[in-house]
Amino acid sequence: MKCFSNCTPSSRRWATIVATVACGGLALAGVGCGSARPTQAAPGGGFGTGDGGDAVAWRSATPSEGRRLFGAVCAGCHGANGDGKSRVAAVMVPPPRDLTRGEHRFRSTVSGALPLRTDMLRSVREGLPGTAMPAWKDRLNAQQLRSIVLYLETLSPRFANETRYPDDVIADLDAVEIPAATSEVLARGEQVYVQAKCGQCHGAKGRGDGLAAHTHRNSDGTPSHVFDFTWGIYKGGTDPKAVWRTFMTGLDGSPMPAYDQSIADPDDRKALVAYVLSLGRSRGAWFWLSERPTWREPMEAGPTP
Ligand code: HEC
Ligand code: HEC
Repeated sequence: MKCFSNCTPSSRRWATIVATVACGGLALAGVGCGSARPTQAAPGGGFGTGDGGDAVAWRSATPSEGRRLFGAVCAGCHGANGDGKSRVAAVMVPPPRDLTRGEHRFRSTVSGALPLRTDMLRSVREGLPGTAMPAWKDRLNAQQLRSIVLYLETLSPRFANETRYPDDVIADLDAVEIPAATSEVLARGEQVYVQAKCGQCHGAKGRGDGLAAHTHRNSDGTPSHVFDFTWGIYKGGTDPKAVWRTFMTGLDGSPMPAYDQSIADPDDRKALVAYVLSLGRSRGAWFWLSERPTWREPMEAGPTP
């Protein structure tokens, strides 16, 4: 069933579903083996680790417990060493991420900065909808999730070598209020979308068919899959704040740039979010009946270097 470089979109789509189901099942079988007994205090605390000011909750988590859990439930997809090399990787689109690079897409920090612990916790807890990456919140308890995050930090030397600064965190995410999608707001959002040239990759109507969509690759060499907004599925979550966070921080390791500098007016930012979310409602019932939304096929999948 190896179908990475040379197969039709629909066979690959099915391969993804099969792999997702099979791997999810495997992963499930391994869960529930975590002992709740803390063995060692979590390193650090306070802002330095980006633990969301919740040092107490992190104290009973340990990288060693995380390592054990990772081997049981994550390694099937991400590889025993977390480098993304697993048997199922070849049939998943997008493939499981190489976690040894320390490049995390979904962060609340500026482009290029380390993710906060709470960012990684969110990705593991909620999963990445629309991809094979499952949500773990119902299968692992709060301590186990935190232990896994501590273990993720041991996979890349970036976490030992770089410091997190309060300034790296994009401002006021919690205070973001997205306005109701009135026609006025949407018109302004569309204007920002055009001015910021989001359509170069995402397409004029947000279908992921922009001219530049096929020319980019992820930093690890895998083909990049430009997001088609009309599915209404967001890896980072459908919450308007999550979409706001995405274009403010950019998605590190992918071609998706950060716009925290270039889109400066707060009302422009909010209108853009409302506009992008409105595109998700443009698919009719037939689309959902006839087609499982998946990643737009890259023009040239090619072997991964
Ligand atoms: C069924 C396969 C599968 C399993 C099991 C799985 N993942 Fe993933 N994971 C993926 C895929 C696929 C992606 C990449 C999605 C993408 O690039 O959009 C991913 C991405 C990630 C990311 C990147 C998030 C970001 O912000 O960039 C992290 C972190 C991660 N996984 C951690 C884990 C952990 C921890 C576990 C175990 C608790 C786990 N994964 C189990 C498939 C899986
Ligand atoms: C250079 C190409 C490029 C441009 C320009 C671009 N994007 Fe993206 N965008 C991407 C790619 C590639 C992804 C998917 C990355 C991934 O998940 O691996 C993406 C993903 C997204 C997502 C989905 C996040 C999720 O949760 O799944 C949002 C929202 C988004 N972009 C918004 C925007 C907005 C708004 C603009 C304009 C201000 C924009 N993008 C401009 C390439 C681009």
